[in-house]
Amino acid sequence: MQTQYSNVGVVGTGAMGRGIAQIAAQAGSRVRLVDSNPAALDKAVQDIGAQWDKLVQKGRMDAEAAAAAKARLLPAASVAELADCQLVVEAIVERLDAKRALFAQLEEVVATDAVLASNTSSLSVTAIAAGLKHPQRLAGYHFFNPVPLMKVVEVIAGLRTDPAVCAGLTAYARQMGHQPVQAQDTPGFIVNHAGRGFGTEALRIVSEGVADFATIDRILRDQAGFKLGPFELMDLTALDVSHPVMESIYQQYYDEPRYRPSVITAQRLAGGLLGRKTGEGFYRYVDGQAQVAPEPGVPEVGELPPVWVSSRAARRQELYQLLKDLGATIETGQSPSINALSLVAPLGFDVTTVAVVERLDPARTVGIDLLVEDSATRRRVLATNPATRADMRDAAHALFARDGKPVSVIRDSAGFVTQRVVSTIVNIASDICQQRICSPQDLETAVTLGLGYPLGPLAMGNRWGPANVLEVLFNMQTVYGDPRYRPSPWLRRRGAIGLSLLQEES
Ligand code: NAI
Repeated sequence: MQTQYSNVGVVGTGAMGRGIAQIAAQAGSRVRLVDSNPAALDKAVQDIGAQWDKLVQKGRMDAEAAAAAKARLLPAASVAELADCQLVVEAIVERLDAKRALFAQLEEVVATDAVLASNTSSLSVTAIAAGLKHPQRLAGYHFFNPVPLMKVVEVIAGLRTDPAVCAGLTAYARQMGHQPVQAQDTPGFIVNHAGRGFGTEALRIVSEGVADFATIDRILRDQAGFKLGPFELMDLTALDVSHPVMESIYQQYYDEPRYRPSVITAQRLAGGLLGRKTGEGFYRYVDGQAQVAPEPGVPEVGELPPVWVSSRAARRQELYQLLKDLGATIETGQSPSINALSLVAPLGFDVTTVAVVERLDPARTVGIDLLVEDSATRRRVLATNPATRADMRDAAHALFARDGKPVSVIRDSAGFVTQRVVSTIVNIASDICQQRICSPQDLETAVTLGLGYPLGPLAMGNRWGPANVLEVLFNMQTVYGDPRYRPSPWLRRRGAIGLSLLQEES
């Protein structure tokens, strides 16, 4: 196979360097591995060989190809042995001084047209290249862990990077079987930037006492379609990795409120509740299994009260049909009768505000989240307000659980859970496009492959309607008075004129 770079060097043979070396050798390049720790180097060569043996056993690689790849993987005692490499990928410790020193050393060794790439996840590519004689030859090449399985790589142009360098790395990524995406050199690049909405907004919801971790995970899995809830995900990633990323991006963007980290993770990190790897994070783990308390059961309710629906409810006709299907007694008067349960379905407002504005008795008012159509979800979410009577809350719970669909009841929260988290994700993604960090299409690719979201964030916004997402954000901004919900111009303009969020400007 003809490859873009026939001789590749990989410096740093930890989790990332190993993976990069593996796919580069599989692509047909001769790969020289360097590590300052000789034991790590030996282990890397062994581990990569074992990965190939496993692939052969599973029938995913033929024995001949594995033997050839092994022959192409060569340990090197020092960077001096990388002289004939057309590409050197660095995956050493995440420290600017160490990376700068390494690249300065490499520049003395390789040919003037050799490409240098850094796998940094949080440092500026421009800053890494700043001291070089030829800063135009250096680009970011940000892979994800585990490299052979996470099929996406961000190709990052620093301020001085030659576009031809990025083009070469892009073509080589494809040869390695990865999907390249192009990003400008900005904090978090694409994936770590776009990923700020999910966890941080979920943490804010917990910090407001709206619902517990497990309830929020259930809601985001069943209502919004995420494979893992945010707290399950943080347990998997571990807080010693994810909390510093939250802090770093927040600080690098000069305290942008959208990325504000949470004291919850700071404290849990300090307490050593890191996640699965320490046996306890947001969940406790026994034999690798998260211990989750059973969901609160459906309350036993005798006779259900009649139900009245606010004229301003989202998806009002759908809600009427649902109530009919559930066998509710529906009131259609202008205002609820003295015994009725009042249902509101706001976008971005809380139940309390709606009850006040619509002059409803808060004691009998309950909210339901209908941003997502009921038929498309596996869970319904109801919210009380501080005055909601227990019998009205239980009646609403029992009614909406009548067909067996799970119901979560949370405390009042403008935007419930799904509206808050989804609109925050869509807003951050929109701002990434507004800043021209990458193309809308590359954003979608990077997030679906890098974060495993059910849809790209812009497609998510289109699915629920840019105008609806915009309404949620405007209203949340009003209720909370917090600039973190300020809609990005990308979303504001497209939402206002009904344009797809994936639409680039001509
Ligand atoms: P690691 O700690 O597993 O491995 C780093 C390796 O580099 C070690 O074997 C160490 O001995 C070696 N090393 C350190 N300084 C060196 C030097 N000056 N010269 C030669 N070898 C040196 O680290 P990991 O997780 O593989 O990360 C490497 C880089 O990749 C970092 O920049 C990190 O931010 C980035 N990254 C890590 C991801 C992850 O999930 N672990 C994901 C994406 C990027």
